[in-house]
Amino acid sequence: MPENIQVDLLNDAFNTFRNASKKLEQQYAMLESKIEELNEEIAEKNSAMERTRRLAAMGEMAAKIAHEIRNPLGSMAILATLLERELTHDGEKRKLAEHITKGVKTLDNLLSNMLLFATAPGARLKQVEIKEVIEESVLLTRGHEKKGVSIKCWYEGRTRIMADPAQLRQMFLNIFLNSLDAMEEGGTLTVRTRLDEETMNFLQIEIKDTGKGIPEEHIDRIFDPFFSTKERGTGLGLAIVSTVVNGHNGSIDVRSRHGEGTAFLISLPVAGERRIVC
Ligand SMILES: Nc1ncnc2c1ncn2[C@@H]1O[C@H](COP(=O)(O)OP(=O)(O)O)[C@@H](O)[C@H]1O
Ligand SMILES: [Mg+2]
Repeated sequence: MPENIQVDLLNDAFNTFRNASKKLEQQYAMLESKIEELNEEIAEKNSAMERTRRLAAMGEMAAKIAHEIRNPLGSMAILATLLERELTHDGEKRKLAEHITKGVKTLDNLLSNMLLFATAPGARLKQVEIKEVIEESVLLTRGHEKKGVSIKCWYEGRTRIMADPAQLRQMFLNIFLNSLDAMEEGGTLTVRTRLDEETMNFLQIEIKDTGKGIPEEHIDRIFDPFFSTKERGTGLGLAIVSTVVNGHNGSIDVRSRHGEGTAFLISLPVAGERRIVC
């Protein structure tokens, strides 16, 4: 073989080798950066998992504390009510006793929302007379009701559905209390129920107030946990409402005009099952 052909061959082989090793180097660098990315991802996921674990532990602790506080709170509520009855003839002292009752109710409501939020129990369905649940929730707003607010309830047709009464009571209470907060200067809270005419499978509940309404820019956030425009609000009320509605396979819609009032429209399946589309 002539000498220059040998050199050419060697050159070709050398070039091929150089290209291959360059490619290998590039691939190695890519691999290295991929490994670095993956390591970062794993570290992030680990700390997210740690955060989730801590939050779950906090939730458990909050639930335990809430249970512990509930018992003495129950006794306080009974004693304050007895005191109110004893003091029917002493207006001033009676007002003080009413303050205790109101405070206890606020705390109890806060604890119920915290428990529902932290433990998120599934809905335990049984036959429920929704009319009774609404009336009970209206009674629970006693002590919170503002002067000059009237509450009207209208029930059309059948109101018996499969639902978790305790969760529904909390759902109504949260909506009613928000309405009362929104009607500082008085107004009307109207609750209407009726069976969906088309399917007869759904109970529709409208809760409407003549309060200050919700500004448009807030509407998309009102169901977010911890969203509150109130100085001492927790932002848990409507988050719980949304969880309860979803847990019952229902739906919720809100219509509001700033300055005119707010209406919540809730639709709950009568049989407690998913909608059957025919
Ligand atoms: N009926 C209503 N009228 C006006 N604003 C409302 C009404 N219901 C809810 N909102 C708004 O939605 C926010 C979130 O409500 P909620 O989750 O119950 O938390 P919180 O009552 O603790 O603020 C309230 O702070 C308020 O701005
Ligand atoms: Mg609220």
